[in-house]
This record gives sequence, C-alpha cells and structure tokens, in this order.
Amino acid sequence: MSKHPKKINIAIDGYSSCGKSTLAKAMSASLNYIFIDSGAMYRGVTLYAMENGLLKDDMIDAEGLKRALADIELVFGELAQSGKDHPLLLNGKDVSKEIRTMEVSRLVSKVAAIKEVRIKLVEQQQLLGKKGGVVMDGRDIGTVVFPNAELKLFLTASPDVRAERRFAEMTQKGMKVSMHDVEQNLRERDYIDSTRAESPLHQAEDAIVIDNSELNQSEQLELALSYVQNVLEQQIA
Ligand code: CDP
Repeated sequence: MSKHPKKINIAIDGYSSCGKSTLAKAMSASLNYIFIDSGAMYRGVTLYAMENGLLKDDMIDAEGLKRALADIELVFGELAQSGKDHPLLLNGKDVSKEIRTMEVSRLVSKVAAIKEVRIKLVEQQQLLGKKGGVVMDGRDIGTVVFPNAELKLFLTASPDVRAERRFAEMTQKGMKVSMHDVEQNLRERDYIDSTRAESPLHQAEDAIVIDNSELNQSEQLELALSYVQNVLEQQIA
C-alpha cells in the first residue's frame, strides 16, 4: 500500500480542434506532469516535407518522405512557461509557429496516414511516456501509443463549436483565415483521420467521453481532474 501513487499516463484523443491540447496543457500544469502534443510531431514531419521538395501538386511524395525519415529529428524543447506549449524543434530549429499554418493543416492528415511516419513517431511517443507522468493528446494515444494508460479521455464537441474555436484561435494569432476554410479543413481531417488504414481515430473501449460543447475551460479541467482523482484514489486503496 503506497500513500504516494505513482505518476500515471493520461491519454486524450478526439477529433480535430475539440480542445484536446488546451485540456492536456491545463491538466499537466495542475498535476505537474509533462504535456506532449503528438499532433505537433505530425505537423513537424509535414513541415519538413514542405520545405524539402517532397510535395507535388499538393500531394505528398510518400516514397521520398519515407526515405527522408531518418533525417528528421523532432525534439520538444524546454517549457518557457507552465501551461504553455513545449517548443518543437525540427532538426534543431524552433518551428512552433510554422507548424500551425493552414498550409500544414491542409497536408498533415495525408502525412499522418503514412505507416512509416506513424511507426517512427509512435516509438518516440512511447519512450517519452515510459516513466509515467505524461499527458499526451492526439488521435491514437489511448488505442495505440498508451493502450495501458491509467486514464483515457475522448473529447468531443459539436462541429460548429470546434470551427468557431479554431477560427478564433488562428485569428487571435494574427493568421488570415476564413471560417469556410477552417470548417472545410476540420471536416477533411476528421474524415481522413477516422478512415485511414493505419491506427484510425476511434474511441478506446475504456475511454471516458467528455463532450465539452457546453463547458468552459475551467469546467472541463475540473471534470477531467475529478477522473484523475478517482484513478489515483484507486491506486492508494
Ligand atoms: O490541434 P488539432 O486538433 O487541429 O490537430 P493536431 O492535434 O495538431 O493534429 C494534426 C493532425 O495530425 C491530425 O489531424 C492527424 O492527422 C494527425 N495526428 C495523428 O494522426 N495522430 C496523432 N496522435 C496526432 C495527430
């Protein structure tokens, strides 16, 4: 019997732009856990493809990218501030801003459907979670990356709410996007992510669903932390 439960791993999955990273970040800050945005890694590989001539007419040169995978190094840098993003370094360069553009969003699901890309990133993600104490968000975290995670959350929100949130987020960052493009991008990514052959997005059987359409950030955090509390109490009992 231990009074100090070991640090657990928390998997957060769900469709595009339903607040996974916001929740993961807030949870990691209040639990003093490490936050890992697995989507940032797929975005990093996509940016590499864009910057290295691996795009043909808006199509990914999948064979070329597979050959280049060994040359792609993705590292999360030190956290500048608690509750914020870890900067993502692509071959040593901070690309945290570049990976958020609409151009990357348009291509990332095609890159993430490539088996070899997934094998490389999943291996790295599993290493990061080896010691526990990680909150990771993505599409296949509870199903493939951490199938034994002590807590799995599956976030949902209505398509309208998701599009409005993403539009506001991008506009606030000074990006020029239209609501139409944002909606279309979310629809396309949801479709590709949930129908691809390799680890498609689906809810793990043992995941707890949180529909946050009507919840603000602190309400969703409070709810999620109550689930963490339950898991930790079970560990002590
Ligand atoms: O933040 P948002 O919901 O827009 O997406 P993201 O988490 O940045 O992920 C970008 C894309 O990466 C997704 O649309 C997926 O295609 C892919 N992805 C994935 O396949 N598996 C993951 N574990 C995370 C992201």
